[in-house]
Amino acid sequence: MSSQGLIKSSIGRKLWMALTGLFLVLFLVVHLAGNLQLIYGTQEGFNEYSQFMTTFPLIKITSYLLYASILLHAVDGFMLARSNRAARPVRYAMNKPGENSSWASRSMALLGTITLVFLIIHMKSFWYVMHFGNIPMDANGMKDLYSITIAAFENPLYSLLYVICMIALGFHLSHGIQSAFQTLGLNHPGYTPGIKKFGSIFAWLMSGLFALIPIWIYLT
Ligand code: HEM
Repeated sequence: MSSQGLIKSSIGRKLWMALTGLFLVLFLVVHLAGNLQLIYGTQEGFNEYSQFMTTFPLIKITSYLLYASILLHAVDGFMLARSNRAARPVRYAMNKPGENSSWASRSMALLGTITLVFLIIHMKSFWYVMHFGNIPMDANGMKDLYSITIAAFENPLYSLLYVICMIALGFHLSHGIQSAFQTLGLNHPGYTPGIKKFGSIFAWLMSGLFALIPIWIYLT
C-alpha cells in the first residue's frame, strides 16, 4: 500500500473511531442513568426499566447500532495501533514520552483492550443472562435482573474487577473524548484547553459513578 493510501485509510479509521467513540459515550450516559437506579431506585423500577430496554423496538434497533459501533471501534483501534507501531521505528521510551504526551494517550490500545475484556465479561454476566438465561421473576412477573446484579456485586472480587476496569475506562475516556473532538476538526487555541478539561472531568465523573455502583452494593 502506498504511504498516501496508508495515511488516507488511517484518517478514515480515526474518523470512524471518533464517531463510534462519541456514540458509545452517549450510550454510557444513558446506561449510567439507568444503572444508578441500583443505588437510589427500587427492585421493581429497575426490572421494569431493564425489560423496557430489552423489548422496546426503537431501543432494540439502537442496540444493534451499539454492538456494531463497539466492534468497529475495537477493530479500527487495533488496526490503528498496529500501523502506528509499524510507522514508529524509534520507540517512545527514547523520546522522553512524559514531556510530549500523557500516559493515557500512549496507552490507548492497552486501555481499550482492558475495556473490551471488561465488556465481554460484563455482557456474559448481565446481557446474556437477561436475553438467554433462566431468570427468576419478581413479584410483578418481570425478569428479576435486579437480584442477579446485586448478587454479582456482593462478590468482592467481582466488584474489585469492576472498579479496576472503571479506572481503565476513566483513563481511556479522558484522552479519547478530547482526541475525538480533535479528529473531527473541532480544535482551536481558544477552546481546545476547555474541551480537554471538559473531557477529563466528564470521563472521571462517568467512570467514578459507574465504579460507585459495585462499591455501594458491596458495602450496603
Ligand atoms: C457498575 C456499572 C454497570 C452496571 C451495574 C451495568 C449493568 C448492566 C446490565 C444489568 C445490563 C443488561 C441490561 C440489558 O440487557 O438490558 C448491561 C448491559 C450492557 N452494558 Fe452495562 N453496566 C455497567 C457498566 C457498563 C460499562 C462501563 C459499559 C461500557 C464500557 C457497559 C456496557 C454495556 C453494554 C454494551 C450492554 C448491552 C446493552 C444492550 O444490549 O443494549 N456497562 N449493563
